[in-house]
Amino acid sequence: MEDILDLDRYPLDREGSPEWDRLVQQSLAALSVDGMFNLEGFLRPGIAEQAVREIKPVMDTRSHVHKRLHNIYFKPSIPELAPDHPALRKVETISHTVCADQIPGSTVMAIYEYEPLVRFLAATMGKARLHVMQDPLARTNVMAYRAGEALNWHFDRSEFTITLLLQQAERGGDLEYRTDLRSDEDPNYEGVARLLEGRDPEARVLHMKPGTLNVFRGKNTAHRVTTVQGDRERMIAVFSYYEKPGVMFSEEERVGFYGRAA
Ligand SMILES: [Fe+2]
Repeated sequence: MEDILDLDRYPLDREGSPEWDRLVQQSLAALSVDGMFNLEGFLRPGIAEQAVREIKPVMDTRSHVHKRLHNIYFKPSIPELAPDHPALRKVETISHTVCADQIPGSTVMAIYEYEPLVRFLAATMGKARLHVMQDPLARTNVMAYRAGEALNWHFDRSEFTITLLLQQAERGGDLEYRTDLRSDEDPNYEGVARLLEGRDPEARVLHMKPGTLNVFRGKNTAHRVTTVQGDRERMIAVFSYYEKPGVMFSEEERVGFYGRAA
């Protein structure tokens, strides 16, 4: 793993050392202030390109195309909102997904299963332990977005999202987010409507470099990936971990997300 991850800069393999503690503290602080942290240069030079070379043939021929119109909640309706409420404005998401079972032995899967990474992530999220997911499809997904495609506005279902950017688009393909647009107590529908109309001055855009690990708290922070432009597709790995071992998706979830049960 020493050749893949920059363990000099990010000492994940030295759990409990002062430098490991410092990295965890910095990550915790960034999460509480910005709702995210980024480990730029997490991959050694050339590794993101290597990971892309491994995945691209599968992406080009066997990825699942997911195209849908949805609102920011990914729900057909919200009981307290009229169907034409501007907070329910529909947006379009198009992506191409490669699942973990299609890339066995790849660099991305080795990183996902690297136990010191799992332990470091648990520490930054204040969890006693995290476990890799058992689901052969969902444990890791690599998503590609091509010219004209985007992951549109949404709130995440999970508390944290962990991604590793492998390739950036020529233009666009940036993470745009609006921190704490809602809270567990206040859905702030008017604020949601304002954001969707492009009138929220607090929306921020983050331009990430390939090889960056991003941990993001997206339950109440609205976010999207802006429309990709140019010939190079944006490619990003999404890692799923759970507090209990052995987590599987249901067959319906697999069919819904990937178009196949196994
Ligand atoms: Fe998200």
